[in-house]
Amino acid sequence: MAQNVAVAAESEGLGICYIGGIRNNPHAISDLLRLPEHVYPVFGMCLGYPAVDPDIKPRLAVEAILKEDVYTEDSEQVAAFDEAMHTYYGERRGGHKDSDWSRNLTPLFDSKLRAHMRDFLIERSFEMK
Ligand SMILES: Cc1cc2nc3c(=O)[nH]c(=O)nc-3n(C[C@H](O)[C@H](O)[C@H](O)COP(=O)(O)O)c2cc1C
Repeated sequence: MAQNVAVAAESEGLGICYIGGIRNNPHAISDLLRLPEHVYPVFGMCLGYPAVDPDIKPRLAVEAILKEDVYTEDSEQVAAFDEAMHTYYGERRGGHKDSDWSRNLTPLFDSKLRAHMRDFLIERSFEMK
């Protein structure tokens, strides 16, 4: 649903940003939105007319994501993408961001993100196995 909203919004000249951060404090959000049991916030979505028009973001090569029959290693494509993202971040942030795709993602897998969600979901009557 959100992807359809994103595509529709962008086709009308709006910009969007998913906000997974809405799960940083699910109790406050649920109170604010008066969410009943068995309903929980997954993400927010900001919609608006962009104040800036940045360059198109580079993308990881499709072959590195879409596999046919068997998985193949794609370290060369990842390395090339990291280089492209390093350049992109450098240009977009006026040289203030020295990072790339891999370095950006590593912290997300280093620890358990939003571990509080499990207890929150149990409170909201979701059964966890
Ligand atoms: C599921 C999801 C949650 C996100 N949550 C946030 C967020 O909480 N705050 C934020 O600034 N951007 C958030 N983003 C936006 C990303 O940081 C990034 O700007 C956006 O995904 C565009 O990059 P992409 O086109 O490479 O995905 C989120 C994106 C996704 C897909």
